[in-house]
Amino acid sequence: MSDTSSPPHNNKLYIETVGCQMNLLDSELVVAALRKQNYELTDDVKSADTVLFNTCSVREHAEHKIYSQLGRLKFSKRSRPHQVIGVLGCMAQKDQTLVFKKMPHVDLVVGTGQLSEIPRLIEEARAGRERALAVSLDRKASSRDQVASSFESYDPLRDPEMRPSPYQAFVRIMIGCDKFCTYCVVPSTRGPEQSRPPREIAMEVAKLAEQGVREVTLLGQTVNSYRHTEEGKEFRLADLLRLIHDTEGIDRIKFVTNYPKDMDDDLLQTMRDLPKVCRYLHVPAQHGCDEQLKRMKRGYTVADYRAMMERIRKWVPDCAVSSDFIVGFCGESEEAFQKSMALIRECRFKNSFVFKYSARPGTKADNLFDDDVPEDVKRRRNNEMLALQNTISEEDNADFIGNEVEVLVEGPSKSAVKAARVESKRELKKQLVGRTPCDRIVVFDGNPRLAGTLARVLIHDCTPTTLMGTIVTREIQHGNTGLLPILG
Ligand code: SAH
Ligand code: SF4
Ligand code: F3S
Repeated sequence: MSDTSSPPHNNKLYIETVGCQMNLLDSELVVAALRKQNYELTDDVKSADTVLFNTCSVREHAEHKIYSQLGRLKFSKRSRPHQVIGVLGCMAQKDQTLVFKKMPHVDLVVGTGQLSEIPRLIEEARAGRERALAVSLDRKASSRDQVASSFESYDPLRDPEMRPSPYQAFVRIMIGCDKFCTYCVVPSTRGPEQSRPPREIAMEVAKLAEQGVREVTLLGQTVNSYRHTEEGKEFRLADLLRLIHDTEGIDRIKFVTNYPKDMDDDLLQTMRDLPKVCRYLHVPAQHGCDEQLKRMKRGYTVADYRAMMERIRKWVPDCAVSSDFIVGFCGESEEAFQKSMALIRECRFKNSFVFKYSARPGTKADNLFDDDVPEDVKRRRNNEMLALQNTISEEDNADFIGNEVEVLVEGPSKSAVKAARVESKRELKKQLVGRTPCDRIVVFDGNPRLAGTLARVLIHDCTPTTLMGTIVTREIQHGNTGLLPILG
């Protein structure tokens, strides 16, 4: 690793990733690029001469966590002067030089649009000990086109060995967001909405399938807003699904995250018609009160959301729907909060992610409204909402008891991995984890070699988040579609 221009250092790379699936994909790609340059991943930050944090700014808490970890590195860097510390992603784009001000021992600040430059920036930092800032234009700094071209979609060729799972992969279909919900930093940290050309996406999916991937999850902040025009023809998400559907080797196609207003009938009918498209939609409501939705500038009313749910039920009756909710947003009365609770009762989401409102500097909500719901009220509403959602999730999961579900086996469950470390490895059967096409988590005992296959599991118990079952049939081998009955 060492050369004449950089001081001696080890090739160990530590990376920590917080935030959404977009960040997980970005980290996978950054790690792949660095491994090509002989870096080796380690989970021991103390032993690494290259330390990267791929950050998230969506809530204050996510930023605090990273800043406190960065703070701790100040001392370790004294004993490890060759260490290069990089802050990547959304917080890098948002805070820019503020990161250096708060944390003078940071060497690199690299935004979401400059990830391809990381290997070079690390080498330069090591050689010259110069700090480097690589970020995109602020959204108001220039024309839309100029700002957009300063955010580069990072989609290098995929390397099968670098993927976290051999059978599942994220595929980015668009970057950025143009919705500008008043509470949200994403439009400024990820830049203008830009869709990748359909052919590029189809090629990436085909390549992944060749490498053994069976499930692809298409990624976009508002994935169903996908829009790409080529030779006068507009390509939407439904067209893209039709384009990639018959890719040999792919069994499942998912896509996240959906924006309620862009859930058109063509997309829903396409889901209905294409068997590989999973019957699962993550389509955040955010709130159940019109006034709050208006303040959030979500662009729809509760009645619109309800009408969308009805269309989902009409076209894809077996579809599982999950949501996000924000509690304690500016001006949220108890009555308004109860309207969110009512929407959850009515829609019976598969699950909901619940977030306490976190005021983000620079956003419209922070400029215009008071963050006036006290923290303890936010916490109580958060807990009440989670309790309600858990009850619904558990009731609906219980409907699966006594039925068989199809599971794409992901591998040993986390608790099984922990147990295996403690106990002997003699036991062949481990607790495995996988997901149904409607995105429900299933655990069952089986041979870890089943990872990457489709299995049928008979469900006999559940919690709000998990179905528990016994394997009934499994594929003979990976890639074989025939099912062979075996004993559980
Ligand atoms: N693009 C996706 C997700 C964006 S961030 C979408 O539009 O649905 C994920 C979730 O974080 C959002 O759905 C929202 O519920 C939550 N969130 C975003 N900004 C927030 C803030 N300032 N405070 C609390 N939660 C927030
Ligand atoms: Fe944020 Fe709204 Fe865009 Fe989602 S749609 S990323 S919540 S601005
Ligand atoms: Fe966070 Fe950026 Fe994703 S702010 S949620 S990592 S797009």
